[in-house]
Amino acid sequence: MGQVPQATYLLIGNGRLAGHMSHYFHLEKIPHQRWHRQSRTPIEAALADASHILVLISDDAIEPFVRQHATGHGKTWVHCSGSLDTDLAIGAHPLMTFAPGHYDLETYRRIPFVCDREGPSFSELFPKLTNPCFSIDRRKKALYHALCVMGGNFSTLLWKKVTDTFAGELDLPPEILHPYMERTLENIKVHDAPLTGPLARRDMGTIRKNLRALSDNPFEKVYRAFVASMDIELENEILEKREASR
Ligand SMILES: NC(=O)c1ccc[n+]([C@@H]2O[C@H](COP(=O)([O-])OP(=O)(O)OC[C@H]3O[C@@H](n4cnc5c(N)ncnc54)[C@H](OP(=O)(O)O)[C@@H]3O)[C@@H](O)[C@H]2O)c1
Repeated sequence: MGQVPQATYLLIGNGRLAGHMSHYFHLEKIPHQRWHRQSRTPIEAALADASHILVLISDDAIEPFVRQHATGHGKTWVHCSGSLDTDLAIGAHPLMTFAPGHYDLETYRRIPFVCDREGPSFSELFPKLTNPCFSIDRRKKALYHALCVMGGNFSTLLWKKVTDTFAGELDLPPEILHPYMERTLENIKVHDAPLTGPLARRDMGTIRKNLRALSDNPFEKVYRAFVASMDIELENEILEKREASR
């Protein structure tokens, strides 16, 4: 019986994900080449030897890049965007945040990959990787990604605002927030109803006090949006509605 030819990987890009994927492949001893815009090797030469091309560049640049360079046949083009819905490359989204620097092997192995249902499976694309993998209808990727952004990026923005204000205006060490941060995440993981505090209690007095403390601050609008998302009506909004209906 003939042997199945091994995939030869080319990683395109020089940003955060390209650095992490290259390090993960290195830790798993998966041979791969890299190419980015600063490389001396022409892209045509880099592509010639590759069977699987991972386009790890900014979302907006992925389709134009593949359109321009996918001239030959028999190559598998993969992208890692969580929101892009395209026929030009197969989506395999690592459900993780990639900061500058590297992670350890166990961290990389635990990252779930969410792949386009329409394409080859994760194990066909990466037979040597053992990550948990899932598939999704490409038409649902916009929603999937909006949820990832809310969960990961919005909570980061909120915590960054809190830690910066502790360190600045309140003159408190931001590290004292760590037990609260950690318990909040633990509670989200294990409880069906993890929310505590004035919004959970619908404590209007405290909510109004919080909003007054945030007046002249862009986060006042954020606080109001969260209140509205829970269908809590603030007094002035009830009054405005009454006025409008007169
Ligand atoms: N970072 C994360 O946490 C994360 C998580 C999951 C998925 N992803 C996905 O990973 C992909 C890359 O994101 P990233 O965070 O690594 O971005 P990044 O750090 O901002 O890096 C973007 C890279 O894209 C390159 N690039 C942009 N336009 C290009 C073009 N026309 N031709 C060639 N290269 C081009 C840039 O090249 P130059 O250096 O030459 O400017 C840079 O190396 C995206 O699809 C993103 O959705 C990222």
